[in-house]
Amino acid sequence: MRIDLISLFPEFVAQCAGFGVVGRARERGLLSVHGWNPRDYAGGNYRRVDDRPFGGGPGMVMMIDPLRDAIRAARAADPAPARVTYLSPQGRPLTQAIVRELAARPRLILLCGRYEGVDERLVEAEVDEELSIGDYVLSGGELAAAVVVDAVARLQDGALNDAGSAAQDSFEADGLLDCPHYTRPVEHELGTVPEVLLSGNHAEIARWRRRQSLLRTRRRRPDLLAAADLSPEERAWLAAQPEDGEGTRDR
Ligand code: ADE
Repeated sequence: MRIDLISLFPEFVAQCAGFGVVGRARERGLLSVHGWNPRDYAGGNYRRVDDRPFGGGPGMVMMIDPLRDAIRAARAADPAPARVTYLSPQGRPLTQAIVRELAARPRLILLCGRYEGVDERLVEAEVDEELSIGDYVLSGGELAAAVVVDAVARLQDGALNDAGSAAQDSFEADGLLDCPHYTRPVEHELGTVPEVLLSGNHAEIARWRRRQSLLRTRRRRPDLLAAADLSPEERAWLAAQPEDGEGTRDR
């Protein structure tokens, strides 16, 4: 997959994509990240990319032309067609289902806004979709773009060392939260690993994990449970569990 970033700070996002799973995916040639700085396309001595908003008010608005030229340069750098995704708090909330859809594309062009926003005419002419990473306001789209890059990179074939591990993540397949995980030592002053995980009985372990996911999702994200893919038996089992079935910690 090829990702083009339109940003005043493209190195920031590229650096975020330099570590761990994403860094490895790039080293393995599964992902390439290219930055395009609108300032390089800005005219005048000051290479201006923003100006005051018409109608007054605080802050600055990113101007059309430097952004449009940067987007055009990014498009022209590869023959594969690409949609332009604008990271903004007004966008569709990002979910794992959207991440899966993005990860399957050959190319992404991610547009990062700064200041109070981007001239609406540029958005209308060039942007195909808007995505938000949550109901809070960042000072720019770069962190949001880094989130998208990370989430799609780890879904590229060959990015994770264990191909099955993405399928077990929270939100994958069944829309439930992930179960708890443990590693050595078995005995620790903070507690003992649940016995079933030491049993070697894979069917029992799978059932325990699934039930933990159900309890956890009901306690922490009841909104997800309503839409989750549960069998009638699982719904009945869950209904029979006390509400504090996951333990007493409220996180
Ligand atoms: N830019 C500023 N805030 C944002 C958010 N919450 N999501 C995506 N892009 C943003």
